[in-house]
Amino acid sequence: MTNFNQLTMASQHYRYLLDGQWCEPGTGDYEAIRAPYDDSLVGYLPLMTQEEAGRAIAGAKKAQPEWAAAPVNERSRILFRAADILEERATEIGSVLMKEIAKKRGSAIDEVKRTADFIRYTAEEGKRIVGETLHGDSFPGFDRRKVSVVHRVPLGVVLAISPFNYPINLAASKIAPALVTGNTVVFKPATQGAISGLLLVAAFADAGLPAGVLNTVVGRGSVIGDYLVQHPDISMITFTGGSVNGARIAKQAGMIPMVMELGGKDAAIVLPDADLDVVAKHIVSGAFSYSGQRCTAVKRILVMDSIADELIKRLVPLVEKLSIGNPEENADITPLINDSSADYVAGLIDDAVLKGAQLLTGGHRDGRLIHPTLLDAVTVDMRIAWEEPFGPALPILRVSSEQEAIDIANASEYGLQSSIFTKDIEAAFRIANQLEVGTVQINGRTERGPDHFPFMGVKSSGMGTQGIAYSIQSMTRQKSTVINLSE
Ligand code: NAP
Ligand code: G3H
Repeated sequence: MTNFNQLTMASQHYRYLLDGQWCEPGTGDYEAIRAPYDDSLVGYLPLMTQEEAGRAIAGAKKAQPEWAAAPVNERSRILFRAADILEERATEIGSVLMKEIAKKRGSAIDEVKRTADFIRYTAEEGKRIVGETLHGDSFPGFDRRKVSVVHRVPLGVVLAISPFNYPINLAASKIAPALVTGNTVVFKPATQGAISGLLLVAAFADAGLPAGVLNTVVGRGSVIGDYLVQHPDISMITFTGGSVNGARIAKQAGMIPMVMELGGKDAAIVLPDADLDVVAKHIVSGAFSYSGQRCTAVKRILVMDSIADELIKRLVPLVEKLSIGNPEENADITPLINDSSADYVAGLIDDAVLKGAQLLTGGHRDGRLIHPTLLDAVTVDMRIAWEEPFGPALPILRVSSEQEAIDIANASEYGLQSSIFTKDIEAAFRIANQLEVGTVQINGRTERGPDHFPFMGVKSSGMGTQGIAYSIQSMTRQKSTVINLSE
């Protein structure tokens, strides 16, 4: 029987993977996971106790030395197999993902395929970890007889905590680099998204991962999170999620390596010479894909007043063309992940309108479904100028100079990405150099991929760098062995 089959019991009660065994929770406690768009049942998620989570960490710790000692070719081969299995199951897993997080069917299946590619690239890149040798020189004192042999070693047990919005991809982008470098993993998926996460884990298990190398901890982060992040046997944390949770984890975990990919308020800065048809296309896809539930979504437009009306003329019809409804029918805009997210976005829209923003389109809601909303005349006293909606609501702030755009962009607590739209490459670089963000996109929407590019945020948007080779670096450390030659 494959791990895929062992994962559920007949009654849609899922199991968690601990030390190579698919287990039922000792307490018998489960949480019903329901589809955000029609409340139908996706499955029952086991809720693990601290004691069970502790056993997952112990299993990972026990398995780590042997896994690290395995040839990298063997680790890489298992990753390649996992990628093939994922791809074979793309439609099946994509359907669960679609249902669990209301991502439109096409994008859900694409996420699984993108992840298979990510794992393959990681399996290749993991073979290219090289060290270096250094010779002693003039400080302190001239001593050519000392030689440092530097190589990279795994960190130990990596705790991977992923968010709801890419339950397969943002999980695998932590798990695969950790595994290929000889770490073992304790994987805590977002509760809404955990069933997709378990299907990903089953693919790794079916690929032949030894027992204990990858373990899952499922249960509410608010209940089990503090225990996990403070556990003395966790050697490194890789977290993607909200900035408040990231900051809390960083405080709780103390002095261990961490990579944090957190929230964003990515600005699209539009200069007068930009090709507005291209700009509108990039902005609408950047802001509204997966209903705006992307850390890298365009979350504000900073446009020169002189061309704002022309840009709006192009934006409104594109926003109004977005299909709205059901992810099963591949709608662009689908219900948000839960009631409180929809309440939050609606609150931001209401606040802006109350303070004088002009509603260009959208602004209404049906339950968790927020119709795609474009707001003009947004000013800096409105919450939506600063807060991350994580939903389909896009504010336009009109500016009168490059400097004003830069100042507003940088006044944000976030610093993930920004876009600059212009034909003037010097202006683009002049502005890019002043923006306090991890990445600037010139004439393109804000986005993470291609997945081997470095991806990082500054300020409240995170710390450390993801992207395949960069993740590999962050999940290994240098170790130096010094040879003291006698002559
Ligand atoms: P979230 O609520 O912060 O949850 C992220 C993960 O943290 C989930 O697995 C969650 O588990 C867990 N968690 C919650 N409280 C915890 C605690 N005290 N200790 C340890 N883990 C805890 O974020 P989300 O709602 O899933 O995602 C939306 C946010 O993530 C947005 O702000 C978005 O911008 C950001 N995000 C950033 C990136 C990026 O790459 N920069 C990518 C995606 C999302 P439960 O689900 O069980 O609560
Ligand atoms: O939500 C955060 C993701 O890292 C964004 O990835 O730009 O490929 O949608 P994406």
